[in-house]
Amino acid sequence: MATVYLTRRERFNAAHKLWVKDWSEKKNLKIFGKCANKNFHGHNYDLFVTVKGTPDPLTGFVMDAKKLSNLIKKEVTNHLDHSNLNKDVKFISKNIQPTTENLVILIWKQLAPHLKNCQLHSVKLYETENIYAEYFGE
Ligand code: NI
Repeated sequence: MATVYLTRRERFNAAHKLWVKDWSEKKNLKIFGKCANKNFHGHNYDLFVTVKGTPDPLTGFVMDAKKLSNLIKKEVTNHLDHSNLNKDVKFISKNIQPTTENLVILIWKQLAPHLKNCQLHSVKLYETENIYAEYFGE
């Protein structure tokens, strides 16, 4: 049986601040750079969700890409888009740094339980065009 990987891209914009409260402002700015801006700052995030499975003999789909898009919107991007990632999102706990690395884990947890006839393979999130994090559920 052939395994095929299907990827859907979704985008969202959100603000965040990376900050360790026990550190000085100087150290926070040194470690987190612009992401430690005291009044938050924004990113245009690019999210790639990949599922894997065998194409259905009738439809040829691993999964209906429109349904995958709707699922990502409902469970993930509708909550994140135009939000403050430190404050507004139920599935991001207040004591976690809203880094791209942590976001991919949380996004995985939002999506994985809802996939029925295929498996979640990876969640890849671009914070800038040059930086992304990817998670495979390990
Ligand atoms: Ni940032």
